[in-house]
Amino acid sequence: MKVIGILTSGGDAPGMNAAVRAITRVANKLGMDVFGIYHGFAGLIEDEIIRLDSRKVGDVLHRGGTFLKTARSPEFMTEEGQAKAVANIKKYGMQGLAVIGGDGSFKGALALQRHGVKVVGIPGTIDNDIPCTDYTIGFDTAINTVVDCVNKIRDTATSHERTFVVEVMGKNCGDLALHAGLAGGAEVILIPEVEPDYDAVCKKVQKSHHQAKSHAVVIVAEGVGGDPAYRKDYLSAAFHVAELINKRTGIETRVTILGHIQRGGSPTASDRLLASRLGAEAARALYEEDTGKMIAIQDGKVVRVDLEYALSQKKTVKREYLELANMLSSV
Ligand code: F6P
Repeated sequence: MKVIGILTSGGDAPGMNAAVRAITRVANKLGMDVFGIYHGFAGLIEDEIIRLDSRKVGDVLHRGGTFLKTARSPEFMTEEGQAKAVANIKKYGMQGLAVIGGDGSFKGALALQRHGVKVVGIPGTIDNDIPCTDYTIGFDTAINTVVDCVNKIRDTATSHERTFVVEVMGKNCGDLALHAGLAGGAEVILIPEVEPDYDAVCKKVQKSHHQAKSHAVVIVAEGVGGDPAYRKDYLSAAFHVAELINKRTGIETRVTILGHIQRGGSPTASDRLLASRLGAEAARALYEEDTGKMIAIQDGKVVRVDLEYALSQKKTVKREYLELANMLSSV
């Protein structure tokens, strides 16, 4: 392969820039020319394409977000949109495309693959909801952001002897809640994959308050109780849980929704390393024309997994993490 394109799509994630940098620099070293596509698939349709080289990806390693910008493109869902995208890929002579994003972005990549475009996927999302990879780019930074916030919330929770319900991102996947909850010492962690047992939640909160702790931190993933977009009776999982706790226990309860704070910030060293490793391997896979692959991390090793297969799999809940959280939080 002589010419490749790179795009970032879907929700941004800290470390995406580091991945673009690694793909570009390794591709250049292998003698490939690189184009950067602005605004994900939308930019591919609208011809928002620039040439990238090793210098143009300088000074981005430590920056959050994505300098290529990102978007969710309804037009790309249509045959016409995809045809325009393919025409622009041909116009620039791109023989392959690296797509950095989550499952929606990978579905877009597969749509292009059906039109004969050679693609490689790099998992980048704070949700860590992609099967066949242990981690996605941005997840570690988001965990650290949540833990930092929980530390701060704990100070005021303890001072006022309140319960705090903290809502974190994750519509279908509770990995962020689970990891941050464990690392932040939350008393309760609720995730979308497990039906909440509110009796047990209230008991735990009460126990926590009646013992020396005098506070409780409950971490709730936004998807608890179903997809927020389709809920009719309440908007936020956290407010729902907080009201329930307050009504059943009488304990003063407050809500903090961390929202898009979780998506920002300079990537952690761990995310920069992951993004650099996955990005470099993506460039190598494109060079070798070993496409239709997702570049993943499994047991610390960078591997190439069939993209279509990865998307057909279901991400499993980390039961051992749930059990550990339960054990460590019992006072
Ligand atoms: O997929 C990443 C993510 O941050 C999810 O955790 C969250 O549900 C969603 O994106 C929010 O999307 P938007 O930025 O479009 O509101």
